Amino acid sequence: MPQPANAKLPRHIAVIMDGNGRWAKGRGLPRIEGHRAGIESVRAVVTACAERGIGYLTLFAFSTENWKRPKEEVDALMGLLNLYMEQELPTMMAHNVSFHAIGRLGDLHPAVQAKLKQTIAETANNTGLYLTLALNYSGRTEILDAMQRLLDEGAGAVDEAALQARFYDPSLPDPDLLIRTSGEMRVSNFFLWQLAYAELHITPVHWPDFRAGHLNAALEDYAGRERRFGGLG
Ligand code: IPE
Ligand code: IPE
Ligand code: MG
Repeated sequence: MPQPANAKLPRHIAVIMDGNGRWAKGRGLPRIEGHRAGIESVRAVVTACAERGIGYLTLFAFSTENWKRPKEEVDALMGLLNLYMEQELPTMMAHNVSFHAIGRLGDLHPAVQAKLKQTIAETANNTGLYLTLALNYSGRTEILDAMQRLLDEGAGAVDEAALQARFYDPSLPDPDLLIRTSGEMRVSNFFLWQLAYAELHITPVHWPDFRAGHLNAALEDYAGRERRFGGLG
């Protein structure tokens, strides 16, 4: 779907990549095959965002609640995460993508933490798309961790700027567009603070089927929205 040249583009797109399990179930495959297939979608969306000149893309890959899943699924997800970083480094380099992560990263498997550090360092000089994976992330823990830091620093008062400055990555602007795949009408503890005025685009497409054409449909939807931020537009 071609976009008109003057289309309003979001500066920051956030994505809840959902539906891997349902995608696999629909094919009679184990859930993990859905997660594996989702890597293709990540590549397609990262590449398309880089080519479209999107500034920031944040992908919700593992929530603090996802530890409740069976150990085999969690272990497989951590393995795929490492595979993703290893396998996709050339794509990131070719598209000038810098890689980042937010969440309680210290609680991730040590091998994942090491690979994250390595990938962040290897892409640190890239100046194009700012790609962030949200890992062991939840909006509530981010707000709590920021508040704890303020308390530890002995802050006597708090305002929006002070709290935001203590988020996992204070350089991230609020998302303009939130995409959720697989149709659920909820935010599942993602970016609770930052989504205050995000435009929402929820598609029934399962994440492993999501491609550049679906992203273009979301961008077209976004370009047609009237954002008011509580004013009169
Ligand atoms: C999203 O797909 C991936 C993660 C949450 C890690 P799901 O695994 O949640 O797939 P469904 O929602 O069960 O279909
Ligand atoms: C949200 O999806 C988390 C990620 C995409 C990483 P879930 O599948 O965990 O959310 P719920 O359980 O349907 O709300
Ligand atoms: Mg899900």
